[in-house]
Amino acid sequence: MPYKLLFVCLGNICRSPSAENIMNHLIDRAGLSDCILCDSAGTSSYHIGSPPDRRMSTAATAKLGIKLRGQARQFQKLDFQDFDMILAMDQENYQNILALDPTGQYHDKVYLMCKFCSQHTLKEVPDPYYGGVEGFNQVIDLLVDACEGLLEYITNQQLKA
Ligand code: 4NP
Repeated sequence: MPYKLLFVCLGNICRSPSAENIMNHLIDRAGLSDCILCDSAGTSSYHIGSPPDRRMSTAATAKLGIKLRGQARQFQKLDFQDFDMILAMDQENYQNILALDPTGQYHDKVYLMCKFCSQHTLKEVPDPYYGGVEGFNQVIDLLVDACEGLLEYITNQQLKA
């Protein structure tokens, strides 16, 4: 059974699809595509069915040479069972996810993405939607750091178990 990761933000058009595509890029490079699967979702329904934001794709291509694939969907309660780790981009996403698990049985699966950063000290991935180009570039930098740490965490802690 592959290990399954779900990245979650508000709209599922900027931060979480970037995290999903960056993580897939690192997983491919590590030859672990059969072992780890990635998906992403938004806590809101605002952009269901939409592709990643063009400004976000531009930043991903400029900084990493990757294209962002995906179609926005909303986080649903079934995701708690379906995924091994759920990675929230900010505190609001984190709280909104936990609010859908009132008994707390899946609490241990839910993490803040920046927990896995080693080069950056920010505790959240800031929402870039209403800001300028620099915000989108910062999202990519933070997510590369966090995804590298996350891959190391999974290969050390989880795939060995
Ligand atoms: P995301 O960014 O949560 O990183 O996908 C946003 C996308 C859309 C909105 C807010 C944040 N919005 O308000 O429509």
